[in-house]
Amino acid sequence: MRRCRFTPVVLLQLTFYAGLRDEFWTDNELGEHHWSKHFPYCGGAFQSPIDIKSELLRFDPTLRPIEVQNYNLSPNEQLTLGNNGHSVQISLPPKMYISSLPHRYTAAQLHFHWGSSSRPAGSEHMVNSKQYAAEMHVVHFNSDKYHNMSMAVDKSDGLAVLGVLIEVGEFNPAFEHFLKFINGIKYRGQKVQLSGFNVRALLPARLDEYYRYDGSLTTPPCYPSVLWTVFRNHITISHKQFLDLSTALYSSHAQDLTHVPLNGNYRKSQLVDSRVVLVSFKEGRGLHGPLTVTSPLIRKRIVQQLLVGDLADLADERLYQLLPSGSEKLHAGKEKELKEQESETLDKVKKQTLNPSPARKSQTNRFVGKLGLAEDAMCYISLEKRVSLQLKQRHTENQLVRALRDAVFLELNFKSYLDCKSDLALPTIRHILRGRPTDEAFELDRSLTKALMNHRKTSTTIKKSVPGTNYGSLSPATVPGKPHNQGYPHPWLLPMEWED
Ligand SMILES: *[C@@H]1O[C@H](CO)[C@@H](O)[C@H](O)[C@H]1NC(C)=O
Ligand SMILES: [Zn+2]
Repeated sequence: MRRCRFTPVVLLQLTFYAGLRDEFWTDNELGEHHWSKHFPYCGGAFQSPIDIKSELLRFDPTLRPIEVQNYNLSPNEQLTLGNNGHSVQISLPPKMYISSLPHRYTAAQLHFHWGSSSRPAGSEHMVNSKQYAAEMHVVHFNSDKYHNMSMAVDKSDGLAVLGVLIEVGEFNPAFEHFLKFINGIKYRGQKVQLSGFNVRALLPARLDEYYRYDGSLTTPPCYPSVLWTVFRNHITISHKQFLDLSTALYSSHAQDLTHVPLNGNYRKSQLVDSRVVLVSFKEGRGLHGPLTVTSPLIRKRIVQQLLVGDLADLADERLYQLLPSGSEKLHAGKEKELKEQESETLDKVKKQTLNPSPARKSQTNRFVGKLGLAEDAMCYISLEKRVSLQLKQRHTENQLVRALRDAVFLELNFKSYLDCKSDLALPTIRHILRGRPTDEAFELDRSLTKALMNHRKTSTTIKKSVPGTNYGSLSPATVPGKPHNQGYPHPWLLPMEWED
């Protein structure tokens, strides 16, 4: 029941801790460090925001430019500008949508995160640890599959958010459409009507250059339901405009005795888990640019090999295929082989399509079904209910967070791996191997664990290790004992020279 009360509310970014002052981002009982007590997903997998570091980047040539429709609203259109106690938010009409993703994602609202007048650093996403002055989020939901925002918010394919980094610099005329009314919504719960304007003008000029990853809502209940697009190019607002945004508002109601300024409303960077960040652009990052993603075909082939193929082969020479992308570097000269394999895989897939092998097919489907992908949209609310029920009253908050994470991580990791947005994590590989209790499976597990330990050694010699969360992931960002914010370059992630 708890979820049912919170979800629609948080979704629409209205107030939910009614009666409580907004101390959401401060270091107290209600601060972000305590979110997971009440909202277990906040302590779970695939959280946002993240620090988008060079070593996480993978160039994906299939990423199309973002296309938005009907963003140029007529002045006759009525929008609502509101202060919800956590942010300033503009409602958006459902005719606005993103047309360039596999599903139609319909716009719902946009809102901002910002620093304070004394500290103009309040973006949620960071790029190579640089925090921008502010960040805009244009929130969309998957309207092909879900009826409204409330239905979509807790589904793994429910939301798509466009993130725009904002720097203090040149005056931005587009912001005046709503900043001129900001003094009318000083207090929490206040709203004013706004005439339509060209929302496209709030986005950077180039919509073809962006970062893409799988993440979450950055406010409770933190469902990992967001397909994130963060544009590479920031926009600017003037210093005065930044002050308008960061000093005009209070997170308290007009009738409250004391008034709490609304600023610093950003969540800190979260663990990367096994994720990588896809980029739609190639130039200008390091000597050779980012690595290119391993194709989904090769990924599917690896999964198939784990399911029914020759494990000794994987444990032997092809171990690097299970390790984070870029570890091919350790096997100099393998790129060519990789390309050959890719075309070989293509041939195989073609042959299989013409002449499918029924045994293999059903086995893959069974696995995919076991991971829940057959349902194709996990519902986080019901999952939390199930886990809570299983744990009954005896559970501690930590156990609930942990159990939820265990329940959700494998599925997210697997889905994200097939979409090229993560590396295969060790728990996921072990899960897949459960159906193969052979000596070869044991040997592969051993080899992987060993490779992981070698990797740990290598990384500790490079930089002194800081305790970090380990989720058994093979990702360079979460290898045991590995600092979360490690330096670049990483030995496994030195840019490869791709011939193209
Ligand atoms: C969203 O859609 C569901 C199912 O169609 C409906 O039951 C619910 O009332 C809707 N919620 C809102 C806030 O419109
Ligand atoms: Zn946001």
